[in-house]
Amino acid sequence: MVTRFDGWPHIVKAQQFSREWMEDALFVKADEMQRRVENREISAPLAGMEMISLFYQESTRTRASFEIAMAKLGGSVPFSTANASQFSAAKGENLADTILTLCEYSPSVIVLRSGKEGDAETAARVSSVPVINAGDGPGQHPTQALLDVYTIQKHLDRIDGLSIAMVGDLLNGRTVHSLAYLLGRFDGIEIFFVSPDHLRVKPEIREYLARHNVSFYEKKDIRDVARHVDVVYQTRTQHNLGTEKWDRFDESNGFTVINRDVLRFMRNEAIILHPLPCLDEIVREEVDSDPRAVYIKSRNGKPSQVKAGLYVRMALLMLLLF
Ligand code: CP
Repeated sequence: MVTRFDGWPHIVKAQQFSREWMEDALFVKADEMQRRVENREISAPLAGMEMISLFYQESTRTRASFEIAMAKLGGSVPFSTANASQFSAAKGENLADTILTLCEYSPSVIVLRSGKEGDAETAARVSSVPVINAGDGPGQHPTQALLDVYTIQKHLDRIDGLSIAMVGDLLNGRTVHSLAYLLGRFDGIEIFFVSPDHLRVKPEIREYLARHNVSFYEKKDIRDVARHVDVVYQTRTQHNLGTEKWDRFDESNGFTVINRDVLRFMRNEAIILHPLPCLDEIVREEVDSDPRAVYIKSRNGKPSQVKAGLYVRMALLMLLLF
């Protein structure tokens, strides 16, 4: 069993990562990966390594960036699924048997996305090779959160002392959960959770933040907090995980859209992040061209959140497999 991640053999949840590991290992390696990509280095440090990309649910960024990361490092992805209809899950095979079967083929690592919270831990329990949680239902998405904190570090040059608004579907938005856990590792963090009452962040996350001395507040209108924060972290409605669409302009739900009005409130040096995909929660024609919007466009030589995902996932594969 691999045991490189602070006592964990797998990447299952954000709480397993220390601040020191993020700063001293992950961020340093991700910077190295950026240089490697920009310089078009052709060495193949992961030659002979094989990644299985087992996605029960659809993905663009996570699957593409992990698979491209593996290719750029000289490894291969001999088995990759886009959703559960493409392998024997469609015939009713359970997760444990699927993982046990794949392990018999001796891959180097399995990247798993599933629709059920806890699936990554179930897979890790039976797997003889490292499992990377690429999103488990409304549970967690730890590699997304790692790339989120890396993006923040690159654009704002610090994480300590930052004030962050997390907006939208905080109940089922797994990236919010993992990011909140990671932010708990840093000092002087302040979080504004901005959502309708029925989509508030889970009690266990509030308890974790309280234990880690993170100040947090629950709000309903992003316009009330936009001027205070360094980061606006917008999220979509997780309709694929059961959240019903709500009216983001309705008085009783509060206001959770990023548009030109919100931009006017925001600090000049703040940034806007979104794990994507983005539906209607950012008015793209008003926000995309703003220099603070770094979710999909790189700015001033600093990677977009999407591009940071490639560097961070390359770094994770190197730290895990090299
Ligand atoms: N952020 C994210 O997980 O996107 P995908 O669903 O496209 O992988």
